[in-house]
Amino acid sequence: MKLWGGRFTKETNELVHNFNASISYDQKFYKQDILGSVAHVTMLAEQGILTEQEKDAITGGLQGILADIENGTLVITGESEDIHSFVEAALIQRIGEPGKKLHTGRSRNDQVALDMKLYTRDEIVMINDLLKELMEVIHRIMSENLSTFMPGFTHLQKAQPVTLAHHFGAYFEMFRRDRSRLRDIYDRMNYCPLGAGALAGTTYPLDRNYSASLLKFDGPTWNSMDSVSDRDYLIELLSAFSTIMMHMSRFCEEIILWNSNEYRFVEIDDSYSTGSSIMPQKKNPDIAELVRGKTGRVYGALISLLTTMKGLPLAYNKDMQEDKELTFDAMDTVKGCLALFTGMLDTMKFNRDVMESSAKNGFTNATDAADYLVNHGVPFRDAHGIIGRLVLLCIDRGISLDELPLEEYQHISPVFEEDIYEAISMRTCVEKRNTIGAPGEEAMREVIAANAKYLQES
Ligand code: ARG
Repeated sequence: MKLWGGRFTKETNELVHNFNASISYDQKFYKQDILGSVAHVTMLAEQGILTEQEKDAITGGLQGILADIENGTLVITGESEDIHSFVEAALIQRIGEPGKKLHTGRSRNDQVALDMKLYTRDEIVMINDLLKELMEVIHRIMSENLSTFMPGFTHLQKAQPVTLAHHFGAYFEMFRRDRSRLRDIYDRMNYCPLGAGALAGTTYPLDRNYSASLLKFDGPTWNSMDSVSDRDYLIELLSAFSTIMMHMSRFCEEIILWNSNEYRFVEIDDSYSTGSSIMPQKKNPDIAELVRGKTGRVYGALISLLTTMKGLPLAYNKDMQEDKELTFDAMDTVKGCLALFTGMLDTMKFNRDVMESSAKNGFTNATDAADYLVNHGVPFRDAHGIIGRLVLLCIDRGISLDELPLEEYQHISPVFEEDIYEAISMRTCVEKRNTIGAPGEEAMREVIAANAKYLQES
C-alpha cells in the first residue's frame, strides 16, 4: 500500500519504486516502529484525539503484527516503500477503519527520526555491554600479570621494561573512554522527536512530553525542524565507533606482531586461528587482521554520512535515508569485532619467559643505569653520555649491560659500585617506577583496585 497515492495520476515507475524504497534495510527497526506507534496512539487517546476503543483496536492490532513478525507468520515484503508503510498497511488490513487513524498528527519524517533513535539507543546499550566484557577480560589478564616483564616500545624499538599488566592497562583506559563517549552520546540524543510532524509540528493538541516519557526519553526535542533533520547523534556515534575500531585495530596489530615467529610473545588459540591452503605449517591471525581491516569500513561510514549531510538545507531531505544502511553496517561490524576480539584475547596464551628475555636484551635498563649515576651526583647529561659509551661497548661484545664486568664500568666512571647490577635488574627497573600510572607493582595494584571498582559500578 502506498501512503501517498491520492495526488498521483500514474503508477510509479518500477525502477523509481525500487530506488526510492528503504524497506530492505529499515525493516531492521520494525519493533521500534511499532513501539513508537503504540506510544503515539496512547498519547492521542489521552488527548481525546482518538477514542479509547480506537486506541485499543490500534494497539491490539500493532501488538499482533509485532508478535507475527517475530514468530515468522507475517513476512516483511518488498512491495511497501518502507517499514512505516508496511506496518500501517498491515494494520489497516487487520483492523480496518481505526487503522487509518494511526498516522494522525504524525509524519514519516518524525516517525523515522524516532525509530532510528530508538534503535540506536538499544545498540548503544549492547555495544556498551560488549565493551565491558572486553574490559573484564583485560582486567583479568592485568591482575594475573603484575610481574610479567616485557619490553615497552617507542618507535617500535625496545625502550624501557614494563609489565604485561601495564601494557594491557593502556587499552583498558582507551576502552574506558570509549564507554564514556557512548554514555555522552546517549544522554545528548535522548530527546524525543515524535510530534515534530513533517517539519512544523501539528495543529492537533499533542502532548509531546507524555509521548516522550512513554518512550523513556528525557523529554521532547525543542525545534521541530531540527527534530526531523538532526543526524548529529549518528555522526557522533560513528565517530565513537571509529575510535573503538581504531583502538581494537592497534591492539590487533600488536597481537599480530607478538604472535609472529619473530616475537613469540603470545600464541593465539587454535580456535581463533586459521590455516593456509598451501603451507601446512601456517597458523594465521586472521581474526586480528580482519578486525584491523574492518576498521576501514567503519571510518568509511563516518565520512559517508558527514558527506551526505553536508550542505543539506532544512528540514527533511530524502538524502537522509542514506543514514541507515551504513550505520547499521557499522553497528553490526563493531558488535561482531568486539565479540570476536574479546574471545580471542580471553583464550590467548602468553609466553612470559620470551617476553622477559626480550626485555632483558635490548638495553631497556639503560635509562636506569643513567639514573644510578645521577643518584651518585653525576649530572644527567654526563650520565647519558657515559651509559651511551657502555652500551656501545656491550653491542660490540654482544652482551647486555647486566653482563658487563664491574671493572669495565669503573674504567669509564669510578662512581660505579657492585650495586649497579641490582640497580639495573629488570625487577628494580620496573619496581622503582611507582608514580601514579607507572608500571611498578605498587602503583599497578592501585590501578587494578580502581578498575575493579569501575567495572562493578558501571
Ligand atoms: N524512508 C524514509 C527515510 O528513511 C522515511 C521518511 C520518508 N519521508 C519522506 N518525506 N519521504 O528517510
